[in-house]
Amino acid sequence: MTRVLVTGGAGYIGSHVVKALGERGYDTIIYDNLSTGYEDSILYGKLIQGDILDFDVLKQTLKEYKPDAVMHFAAHISVPESVENPLKYYINNISGSLNLIKALRECGINYMIFSSSAAVYGIPNEVPITEDAPINPINPYGTSKAVVERVLRDVSDCSNFNHVSLRYFNAAGADTEGKLGERKKEASHLITMCVRTALGTRPYLNIYGTDYDTPDGTCIRDYVHVEDLAEAHILALEHLLNGGESQSFNCGCSRGYSVLEVVRTAKKVTGVDFPVKYAKRRPGDPPVLVSDSSKIRKVLGWKPKYDNIEHIIRTAWEWEKKL
Ligand SMILES: NC(=O)c1ccc[n+]([C@@H]2O[C@H](COP(=O)([O-])OP(=O)(O)OC[C@H]3O[C@@H](n4cnc5c(N)ncnc54)[C@H](O)[C@@H]3O)[C@@H](O)[C@H]2O)c1
Repeated sequence: MTRVLVTGGAGYIGSHVVKALGERGYDTIIYDNLSTGYEDSILYGKLIQGDILDFDVLKQTLKEYKPDAVMHFAAHISVPESVENPLKYYINNISGSLNLIKALRECGINYMIFSSSAAVYGIPNEVPITEDAPINPINPYGTSKAVVERVLRDVSDCSNFNHVSLRYFNAAGADTEGKLGERKKEASHLITMCVRTALGTRPYLNIYGTDYDTPDGTCIRDYVHVEDLAEAHILALEHLLNGGESQSFNCGCSRGYSVLEVVRTAKKVTGVDFPVKYAKRRPGDPPVLVSDSSKIRKVLGWKPKYDNIEHIIRTAWEWEKKL
């Protein structure tokens, strides 16, 4: 049985991937310090409560469980927080990843899938964004992801280690069976904020900037359902296990929705005309971030099932109502 160790597997995206792995018959070990994750979000496998910054425990865990591959989700993920406290991000996201890569090398584990982000591109010159676009992050969070991608490439180039970096665009939605979803106390994702505002757990929704050079003046983003992301991880794993080479892939639906379109659809799905406030632009928000995802579709055969914003919002709404 193929065994996969999943760092950050108790978090939002990791828990959906652990579920998908479990359903496909993979054996999973989850390595998570539960700083933002939840033990009861782990539906399959065994939890080792540990920190990626603790090299000895991490290496001991790898030695004991001997996974065939590792998926690495554990990280801090807030862009604004990374601007206020860059060291927190560089330590957890870079030092933690270096620990992991070093431990993998020392234990002879040769496959790793890394949660990267569209944030590595910064403000793109061209949209849709292909993987060949310049890597030019504009905040410490994006820089932390770009540095780890670079380290992975260098290590892969000089050894039999192989990796896949998946550059997620806006992860959204929840498990369609209603068992999992986003549980972060401080929501930073638009769709989660919309459904929480519709439920009344937030007083209003802020829309940052209405004067962008887009058809309705608000930012345009590419939303990818968390179960489609999970599928991308399974395909990336199979790619590596079958001898595929190291790659970086965009992971998005290649379809953009403006903030106002998302808000309109969220009001329709929830049936609640929730309050909205218009605020100034946030520094560092690119007007349009839409992926060209043809590479992952071609190389891995990935095809998002849920590229319909209404469906994505509905799964988030169903989940939020249960919390
Ligand atoms: N959510 C998105 O839209 C998005 C977009 C692009 C990339 N990503 C990346 O995807 C990954 C998962 O994001 P998420 O939204 O599920 O976040 P999350 O906060 O829900 O999950 C992160 C998990 O990692 C764990 N963790 C954090 N630091 C750790 C450490 N030092 N040691 C052990 N465990 C630790 C947390 O407890 C949590 O369970 C992250 O690497 C993030 O950068 C997310």
